[in-house]
Amino acid sequence: MDALSIRKLTKIYADKKSALNEFDLSVKQGEIFSLLGSNGAGKTTLINILTTFLKPTLGTVQILGKDLESNMQFIRSNIACVAQHVSTDDNLTLAENMRFQGGLYGLGKAKMKERTNQLVEIFNLSDYIDKKVETLSGGIKRRLDIAMSMMSYPKILFLDEPTVGMDVQSRQSMWRMLSKIKSELGVTIFLTTHYLEEADMLSDTICFIKDGKNIIQNTPANLKKFTRKNMIQITMTDSQDTERMKELLLQKDYVTEVSVDDRSLNIQVEHSQQHFFDLNTYVLSTRIGFEGIEITEPTLDEIFLDIIGERGN
Ligand SMILES: Nc1ncnc2c1ncn2[C@@H]1O[C@H](COP(=O)(O)OP(=O)(O)OP(=O)(O)O)[C@@H](O)[C@H]1O
Ligand SMILES: [Mg+2]
Repeated sequence: MDALSIRKLTKIYADKKSALNEFDLSVKQGEIFSLLGSNGAGKTTLINILTTFLKPTLGTVQILGKDLESNMQFIRSNIACVAQHVSTDDNLTLAENMRFQGGLYGLGKAKMKERTNQLVEIFNLSDYIDKKVETLSGGIKRRLDIAMSMMSYPKILFLDEPTVGMDVQSRQSMWRMLSKIKSELGVTIFLTTHYLEEADMLSDTICFIKDGKNIIQNTPANLKKFTRKNMIQITMTDSQDTERMKELLLQKDYVTEVSVDDRSLNIQVEHSQQHFFDLNTYVLSTRIGFEGIEITEPTLDEIFLDIIGERGN
């Protein structure tokens, strides 16, 4: 059973604006899933439908095997959602906030304690436990906000742009925490982001959404194979040798393109694994000095632009 199964989901707003257009998607249980797309692509609309805030116009949604429409109560008690704005109470301490949240879900004393300790550990919050929330930084509040949403033991956690506005360090520690929630608590995580690097580092599966349509869904590794694959990079010792090396490389029949960037040559070949050894031997035989040769993978940014360019128009 999938965590989410979405078929032909369509949302047309009152002003006839179509935000989701026969959107299909499946999300496996226990994975970290990232939904990536530009402003206005339909990400928040989708999260709002999945978390029961918004009614779809057409299409079917199953969450944990149950139809969304006829099982709202079941679904609400099995998911948690962290919206973009922080929803902690500034006048309470961090521990009080977590107790308050646990109380809302009717957790008994023992469960409350166990869960609080577990989440304080995962989110690295022990230094702040008795501090009033108003004295904490934005990044810590955000961590608390997500920890609070986990008090109800949800099976799926929805996060709408969880790291927006964070500095690099806070963002990276958030990634570690989300990975821990997944591995230690077995929660399925569904997040939206604008940051390709974030999706790449964190997720098991990525989906690109454009104009309310699912453009492509796959693992980060497979997405990288789709596009600009088979690149080998050589770094020359001396930038003066790059042009000469480029000419020599172009004589190889499996080399299709060479571009030069300072001391680096980016070489497009037919099969990077297959031709790597031969190319390596060949470069050595030229006796022109080079520092390194490696197979390079495209970044997700390149993939996104490639895919949006090719399929999104
Ligand atoms: N309440 C609404 N009424 C009418 N149109 C809406 C409403 N909410 C969103 N839209 C439109 O639906 C489309 C999708 O918006 P949505 O907020 O889902 O995009 P998004 O991917 O979350 O964008 P962002 O990255 O900017 O948050 C946009 O064209 C938006 O203008
Ligand atoms: Mg949005």
